[in-house]
Amino acid sequence: MTHVARAHPSTAPRLHVISGKGGTGKTTVACALAIALARQGKRVLLAEVEGRQGIASVLDVNPLAPEEQLVLTDPSGGEVYGIAVDAKAALLEYLKLFYRLGPAGTVLEKIGAIDFATTIAPGVRDLLLIGKIYEAVGRTQKVNKREVPVYDAVVLDAPPTGRIVRFMGVGEGVSDVARVGPIARQAASVNQMLTSQTTAVHLVTLLEEMPVQETIEAITELEGGGLRLGSIVVNLVRDHHVTSGHLRRVRARTDTLREALNGDLTLMGLPAGDAIVDGLIEEAVEHEERMELQEEQEAIIAAQDRPTIRVPHLPLGVSGGGLGVLADAIEEQGMTA
Ligand SMILES: Nc1ncnc2c1ncn2[C@@H]1O[C@H](COP(=O)(O)OP(=O)(O)O)[C@@H](O)[C@H]1O
Ligand SMILES: [Mg+2]
Repeated sequence: MTHVARAHPSTAPRLHVISGKGGTGKTTVACALAIALARQGKRVLLAEVEGRQGIASVLDVNPLAPEEQLVLTDPSGGEVYGIAVDAKAALLEYLKLFYRLGPAGTVLEKIGAIDFATTIAPGVRDLLLIGKIYEAVGRTQKVNKREVPVYDAVVLDAPPTGRIVRFMGVGEGVSDVARVGPIARQAASVNQMLTSQTTAVHLVTLLEEMPVQETIEAITELEGGGLRLGSIVVNLVRDHHVTSGHLRRVRARTDTLREALNGDLTLMGLPAGDAIVDGLIEEAVEHEERMELQEEQEAIIAAQDRPTIRVPHLPLGVSGGGLGVLADAIEEQGMTA
């Protein structure tokens, strides 16, 4: 391969872990970040660990396999590889690597005979999943007689905030199972990487009370566990459609306003009338009330005094070029710097 990794400032993370409350846009933001990084000519691995095929559906590509495969290329030469990390596949790989087990087929048969998902300790399962990520981040290849990372960056669509610290605190869960031996050593190495400057955890939130609250709790928990917070990613940011001067008039619901609206609608050849005008006014008031709530939550986020990225709400959704718009926003605000 001719690919050469770019030089990174020492503080730039190479592993981006995307967490946040469920449904806030983790998978979407992970995909947009991977695209933004690939636009810089980087080779990026985009990974998911929950078996949902969320990435494939956001990128509109075939379901991801438990092996890395190229899913997108950028004119800059950048590439996005995708993987749906699977604990069972990772275990087989691990067994082959550490115990030099023979043909995978026989091993597979044996493992297939047990109910893998319910038999394996959750801590070990997490270690297998994040262990695969660890391996990909650390993998190198020789380019011009120098060992350089195969991936310039790895973006992980991670479990939600409720589970992220335990997922990444692999050492703890595992120490009940294995205190010594290769599993314990693996856990220690993974932990070291996750708590180093190589790794940043980004928290996706919406400007709503519950996700913001979860974000703040997660920051405390992450930092308590020695993990580095990257950015708070505020998703679905909506713009004001009504200026404050207009808002006063809208709220007063005056007859002058009604007449003006009626006139404008008629001028534009749109249906007018009292019912329509009243509906429009109510919608404008509701919109502004949502905006006020949003501003309250923005103030709470701002008080955290952390790097914050604002991602616009795309009224038409993320398909058909929408991801590119989100990648632009992410890049412009320095998340890929
Ligand atoms: N900035 C955005 N603008 C419009 N729709 C969005 C945006 N971000 C996410 N969505 C939509 O919100 C839904 C949830 O996003 P998703 O990334 O799957 O969340 P999560 O992975 O946190 O569960 C999806 O339907 C997605 O298309
Ligand atoms: Mg998701």
